[in-house]
Amino acid sequence: MPTFIVLLGPPGAGKGTQAQIVSQKLGLPHISSGDIFREHLKNQTELGKLAKGFMERGELVLDDVTISMIRERLSRPDCASGALLDGFPRTPAQADALAAMLAEFNGRVNAVPYIKVAEQVLVERLTGRWTCKAQGHVYHERHNPPKVAGICDLDGSELYQRDDDKAETVLNRIQVYFAQTMPLIEYYQKAGLLLEVDGTQSIEKVSSDLLSGLAKISKSIA
Ligand code: AP5
Repeated sequence: MPTFIVLLGPPGAGKGTQAQIVSQKLGLPHISSGDIFREHLKNQTELGKLAKGFMERGELVLDDVTISMIRERLSRPDCASGALLDGFPRTPAQADALAAMLAEFNGRVNAVPYIKVAEQVLVERLTGRWTCKAQGHVYHERHNPPKVAGICDLDGSELYQRDDDKAETVLNRIQVYFAQTMPLIEYYQKAGLLLEVDGTQSIEKVSSDLLSGLAKISKSIA
């Protein structure tokens, strides 16, 4: 049976940072809806053109568009034994669609780690974030700086600041999260799948809490 893990948390909670570590540890592909949208934006595809305005305003892209993009990604062979989802689902409609599509793939959501971070920490994290152009590796100018400023430690590519990490857009993304994504916490809590982790600890401690929590949920996951 495949293993599907959904990482929940507000913008800047550390989902991408943790997904890179945990996906390697568990041998699951890291599927980031934000990264897929940014790839479409870079390649100026029709989907990228459609998503651009929503992303620039810090709003969610339409559910049906996002759901079919993720369905296509999850149907690829590398997801046959499961995936670690980062940034999807983000609305109850997306969560229902995910459950339905995983049932088609003979799977289900096995665990939902929720990385909890207070609102006031998020703005500082996002406005200080630097991302690698080649593969999306994430740094922070104070909390997790690269060895050489502006250069990715892992692949040597240039680091850049995301357009939606401007303070004004960040505030809107956080509001959108509270209005549209927070209901998923209760949704997955009711399903008995939520695993709350304190995201204000060091990156290493968050990873170890995540991995030990997942191991407790199922010995077959970690
Ligand atoms: P997306 O790319 O998913 O952005 P997000 O959810 O807002 O999350 P972020 O990537 O900003 O934060 P993160 O939690 O991954 O934090 P990170 O690890 O980088 O989405 C972008 C846009 O795409 C959306 O606004 C929307 O328009 C669209 N979209 C995407 N999915 C969609 C969907 N399902 N439906 C509709 N639209 C969708 O860490 C942040 C910073 O903090 C980094 O600098 C990092 O180094 C630092 N940091 C991390 N952990 C720690 C720690 N423990 N201590 C100190 N610093 C830390």
